Amino acid sequence: MKALVINGPNLNMLGIREPGIYGSDNYDRLVQICQEAGASQGFDEVEVFQSNHEGSIVDKIQEAYGKVDGIVINPAGYTHTSVAILDALKAVAIPAVEVHISAVETREDFRQVSYARLACFATITGEGLQGYAHALELLRKHLEK
Ligand code: DQA
Repeated sequence: MKALVINGPNLNMLGIREPGIYGSDNYDRLVQICQEAGASQGFDEVEVFQSNHEGSIVDKIQEAYGKVDGIVINPAGYTHTSVAILDALKAVAIPAVEVHISAVETREDFRQVSYARLACFATITGEGLQGYAHALELLRKHLEK
């Protein structure tokens, strides 16, 4: 079983960007959490990908078709704008969980819309980086069904 974790723009700046909102752990720690959680959930492989570019994220989702069993995605700023990422998730129809580090539901109005959510079977918000471990757990349970 292979899982793909996709992170959108500015998540490479974790630890530097708005630590009051996103915490002080950096992107390498996020990758470590995903690798450890994936192994403990019994995934054979967890690939962790980050891009600041919408098209690269669409390409990555398309490339996952036929190769990846489940996706964890934090589209970051593209959550609230990207029909293209939603369409890519729908096109490949790979089970997907949406993650946000912050509690987006308590933030600005423009963060209340999520396009990607429409193609995800679960959403996790406000659990910090551990939200990725939670998402991989939900994904594993979903794939076992
Ligand atoms: C985020 C929330 C988004 O609104 C924001 O644009 C991000 C990160 C989160 O993980 O909490 O970049 O997706």
